Amino acid sequence: MRGQGNPELMRQLMTRLEQASGLDRISDPLQRALQAVVKPRTLRDALHGVPTGHAVHPALASFTLGSLTSAAILDLIRGQEVPATTLVGVGMTAAPLTALAGATDWSELDKEQRRVGLVHLAANVVALGLYGGSLLARLNGDHSRGRMLGFAGFGLLNASAYLGGHLAYVQGAQVNQAATELHRISDGWHPVADVSALPHGMPVSRSIGEVPVLVYRNGDSVSVLLERCGHETGPLGEGHVVDIDGDACVECPWHGSTFRLRDGLVMHGPAGSDQPVLRTRIVNDVVEANLP
Ligand code: FES
Repeated sequence: MRGQGNPELMRQLMTRLEQASGLDRISDPLQRALQAVVKPRTLRDALHGVPTGHAVHPALASFTLGSLTSAAILDLIRGQEVPATTLVGVGMTAAPLTALAGATDWSELDKEQRRVGLVHLAANVVALGLYGGSLLARLNGDHSRGRMLGFAGFGLLNASAYLGGHLAYVQGAQVNQAATELHRISDGWHPVADVSALPHGMPVSRSIGEVPVLVYRNGDSVSVLLERCGHETGPLGEGHVVDIDGDACVECPWHGSTFRLRDGLVMHGPAGSDQPVLRTRIVNDVVEANLP
């Protein structure tokens, strides 16, 4: 039995939104403006979640939405005006950073994802405007007005959360695209390349079954990474090798995510997670790789 509601209608609406090319008139210049404003690489990396190896926007969004949801629940209970006001204030304080992290991720997405993300962003801005009015009213002692504006903002925020879920779970925005590739490799050791045929310090592309991998030899050690970039499946085999703090890293040719070749550690975003690395061993001059 299908779930409740009208799933066909929702699918059609979301498909139309993904294909609404008219939104590009706003989305494209906004993308350029964001990339110009959030320019320092260290800041961009922090907002993408590079230092922790996880995207930060979902965690910040949970905190913001959690505070505002708790405020909405308290608003249903008589005599909870002060804690409800406090929680609206907490949510409003966390909102700018949440929005900035989300917008930074958004600025590296493809067109269809950015169209959905643009409406998600616009709905959040209006919702936070309503919450701003709500907070002001509460601080001025008008709690019934504060509650009304809060409920309106809460409804819009949840509609917007649906769009955020669509972006992540249906369109795969900012999820580690490489992780699913691992499921296409069977458990066990797979021959990948002859060690003596591998150049030193230069990654080469090979494959395990139908899964492309990057093989990197540095002296006696050999590492094998998945070749499709975890950000949006860009071909790392076509990327440049760059030196970061004495370590050879590969820079994705699509959006510049950079991974350390010896262990897949993400050095620069927009990818927020490490590139999966396989276990390796050398048997009779042949590099073999196995699941991590
Ligand atoms: S696909 Fe976007 S950085 Fe690699």
